[in-house]
Amino acid sequence: MPTEEQVTEKLAGVIDPELRRNIVDLGMVRSIDIHDDGRVDVVVSLTTPGCPIRNHFQQAVVQNVSELEGVERVEVGFDVLSDSEKGELQQKLGRGKLPDGALAQVKNVICVASGKGGVGKSTMTANLAAALVAGGHSAGALDCDVYGYSIPRMLGVNRKPEVSPERKIIPPVSPAGPKVMSIGFFVDENAAVVWRGPMLHKAIQQFLEDVAWEELDYLLLDLPPGTGDVSMTLAQLLPQSKIVIVTTPQPAAQSVAARTAEMAAKVDLEVMGVIENMSAFNGPGGERVSIFGEGGGQLLADELDVPLLAKVPLSEDLREHADDGTPLVTEDPDDPASQAIRTAARGIVAQSPVALPVMETVAAAGVPAAAISGTELPVIQ
Ligand SMILES: Nc1ncnc2c1ncn2[C@@H]1O[C@H](COP(=O)(O)OP(=O)(O)O)[C@@H](O)[C@H]1O
Ligand SMILES: [Mg+2]
Repeated sequence: MPTEEQVTEKLAGVIDPELRRNIVDLGMVRSIDIHDDGRVDVVVSLTTPGCPIRNHFQQAVVQNVSELEGVERVEVGFDVLSDSEKGELQQKLGRGKLPDGALAQVKNVICVASGKGGVGKSTMTANLAAALVAGGHSAGALDCDVYGYSIPRMLGVNRKPEVSPERKIIPPVSPAGPKVMSIGFFVDENAAVVWRGPMLHKAIQQFLEDVAWEELDYLLLDLPPGTGDVSMTLAQLLPQSKIVIVTTPQPAAQSVAARTAEMAAKVDLEVMGVIENMSAFNGPGGERVSIFGEGGGQLLADELDVPLLAKVPLSEDLREHADDGTPLVTEDPDDPASQAIRTAARGIVAQSPVALPVMETVAAAGVPAAAISGTELPVIQ
């Protein structure tokens, strides 16, 4: 009969296609029992009970362990990692805390932030979410700017969300594709809301926990401008989220840029990149019109040592469509402003941790590629 070491060695050939490491290294092998009659029982621990790649593990474990001499039969059982084990796994993977509850199925949380208001943060959030959906990803937009909700309007959602029998808030779906949620749905439109620290923290937390986002590739959060309570709250609640900073092109906006950089450092979230908005556009005669100057986006990106994801030109159509609730990226994808926003969306996708299956190793384990096609892989375009 094989020894436990030999079985472990074989199990080290079973790769988790999402985490791209073998199940032994990941600490996902719960037990190995070798019986005299040639039967080997292996229990594999999964991160979630309904893990879609369970069948992949089942087949790969049977295949690999069966190769050992003396093994007649392999039985594979499954259980679920405890919370502390999941924590250890996360540490091994070098990421922040696993999202809990309603956010568990959200793959990437991205905060759209800016140093000051009026730079087009909400416009970018709404259009980026729509562009991600148009690119084949699932996306949601959450309005966290409690001082000026605009995401539902920009995405053409004007009905309040329903509550499921499990008391989860169901986000309405925009005609442009993304799921939409806003604290604005729950307050009187004209009520001057004064949200302060603890109350705001509670409200945001509730929105993150009680909204049934279900499976999402991207959840975009429209943050209030500046370095206020909400940003700090989010950094605490979602340490794994990343920031995209929106800025205007004036090079003179240094103090604002510095504030934004300061915020990024303070909240200790990774900055994914900068979007310059209200950039120069081509006038009717083809001449370049740079109302807000040039270069501010690149300057900030350089200062933060992150990529400039796009320069979105000033565009009357972009504004009109935002006002109408029909995002320009879906209405006219070839408009220069749409093209720039789609470029930014692709930059975001390219920077998200994509779970690519390790094809060679999987093939070596004798599992046909089709066995892993059940896992949804964001497509880099
Ligand atoms: N690139 C652009 N070209 C023209 N108008 C824009 C552009 N980006 C944003 N706007 C308009 O500027 C105003 C402020 O944008 P908004 O997205 O609400 O900013 P923020 O959320 O940062 O306060 C809105 O009326 C919006 O339609
Ligand atoms: Mg806004």
